[in-house]
This record gives sequence, structure tokens and C-alpha cells, in this order.
Amino acid sequence: MKILVATEKPFAAVAVKGIREVIEGAGAELVLLEKYTDKAQLLAAVADVDGIIVRSDIIDAEVMDAAPNLKIVVRAGAGYDNIDLQAATAHGICVMNTPGQNSNAVAELAFGMMVMMARNLYNGTSGTELKGKTLGIHAFGQVGRNVARIAKGFGMDVYAYDPYCPAEAIEAAGVKALATVEELYRTCQYISLHIPATDETKKSINHNLTSLMPKGAMLVNTARKEVIDEEDLVRIMEERPDFRYVTDIAPANASLLAEKFPGRTFATPKKMGAQTAEANINAGIAAAHQSIGYLRDGIDKFRVNK
Ligand code: 3PG
Repeated sequence: MKILVATEKPFAAVAVKGIREVIEGAGAELVLLEKYTDKAQLLAAVADVDGIIVRSDIIDAEVMDAAPNLKIVVRAGAGYDNIDLQAATAHGICVMNTPGQNSNAVAELAFGMMVMMARNLYNGTSGTELKGKTLGIHAFGQVGRNVARIAKGFGMDVYAYDPYCPAEAIEAAGVKALATVEELYRTCQYISLHIPATDETKKSINHNLTSLMPKGAMLVNTARKEVIDEEDLVRIMEERPDFRYVTDIAPANASLLAEKFPGRTFATPKKMGAQTAEANINAGIAAAHQSIGYLRDGIDKFRVNK
């Protein structure tokens, strides 16, 4: 039994060590493909593997065609928009994610970026505090819940909107549930995005929503760049000198934004919400256990394709 860890953006070494222990401890072989730069390297590496563990690496029909023994792909992380689920089902391949394993890391980065922008990118001028400000959590999944927990420590007034999560579950976490997405944007000066990239959500964060935000608005994106309508983002920033945007996923128009709106946008150079040793260990080791569990015993908890 061979399991490939294919990570264009590698896990911390300590996480790879843990993954190796789980895989080799189960009598399987670990194959490592880190920091690859070319799809051809991935296509060659999958030729004889039974399982693949990835991060945001693209696993499409071409990769699956090149992997005749492949039975499982585990996305060590939350969002699985990088994996072609339909193709996987057609190839008889199980796809899983590892929900919750890297969510604290992402939530902490959201706060890191919020504080940095609220303090004017640490340029020495007088900024503002998060305490007493309204924070809207757009989608109350695992990351959203961690954001809520941290926000309470900051003394923020926390709201959430999630059409897939019952209001009672949101309220049980001590967060005010709002009935519509418009209400969330109208109520909250800070909005933190935690929606996946799906046909329904792509480009959904548009001018209609952002224009509702109160004065001193800050949009925080640790979710996916595809959910933003980037032309509308430029428009709202042109109209509103108070509007700020911080993101862990650089938009296609990042240089235009930086040039046009200096001091009001920030993008990490590479997506790094989940780039902590702890998140890598949690997600990587969970992915290793899930791969072995499926290949050895057929356990398909956390399967995301039919
Ligand atoms: C996720 O969906 O788990 C996060 O976006 C982290 O992605 P990464 O593993 O590519 O850093």
C-alpha cells in the first residue's frame, strides 16, 4: 500500500514526521513530493499510489487518469474546491477532508490581519481598537466558531449569518444569529469570510453587500479569493475612503489595489492561514489516519463525494 503526500506548499517537517509514523506504522509506504513546480512531476508521482494526501494541490481528472491504483484522496484541510469530485466519483475514488484540524490557525491569522490593518499597518500613526466593534462572521463553520471565540476575548460584539447552520447553534455559541446576509453586512463594521468557493458563492461578495457595511468597514478574507467580485471591490474602495480589505489569498488585481489604495489593502504573499506547525500536524496526521482507515478498513467518515 503506497500513500503519496503531494504538497506544493509543504507541511512543517515535524508534521511530515508524524505522517510518516502513522503510514509506516500501518505497514504502508510513504512517498513524498514536496515543493513541486510542474504538474508533470505530480502525474509521474501518482502512477502507482493507492492514496494521495494534498493541501490546495489540484487533483483533477488528468491526475486521476494517471493513477490507476488510486482509491482515496484526502485534502488535509477544510476546502476541497481543488479536487474534482465528479471525476473522483466517476473513477471510484473516495475524497475526504479533515474538518476543523487547521481552523484555529486560520482564525488566528484573521485576527492578526485585523489588528495590523486597524493599527495602520504598524506605520506609527494612531489607529483603532477592536474592542467594542461589531464583527460579522459570514458562515459559522469550524473557522467561524474559532473566530467567534477569539473575538469575545477581544471584547467585540459578535454576529453571524449561516443559512446552513441553525440559529440556535449560533446562539448556543454566544453569538447573535442574523436572518439575512444583508443584515450581517448592514450591522457589522468588520466582516470575516468563512464561506467555501462553490457555484453559489463565487463572486457573491459584491458591491450590493459591501456597500451596506457601516463606516470604517474592514473586510477580512481567509476563505477563498473566488468568492470576491474583484471589480466590485475596486468600486467600493473608490467610493469609500474608509473601506479596507485584508486577505490571505491575493486577488488577481492585487497590484492595482495596492497602487490605487495605499494603506487600505493587505494580502499575504502566499496563502498562510493554515501554515502553522500545529495545523500541519493536526491536519496531516488526521489525513494519514483517514487514508489508512479507508484503505485498510473501508472507513469513510468525512467523505465529501458520493
Ligand atoms: C483549507 O481549506 O484548509 C485552508 O484554506 C488551508 O489551505 P492550505 O492547506 O492550502 O494552506
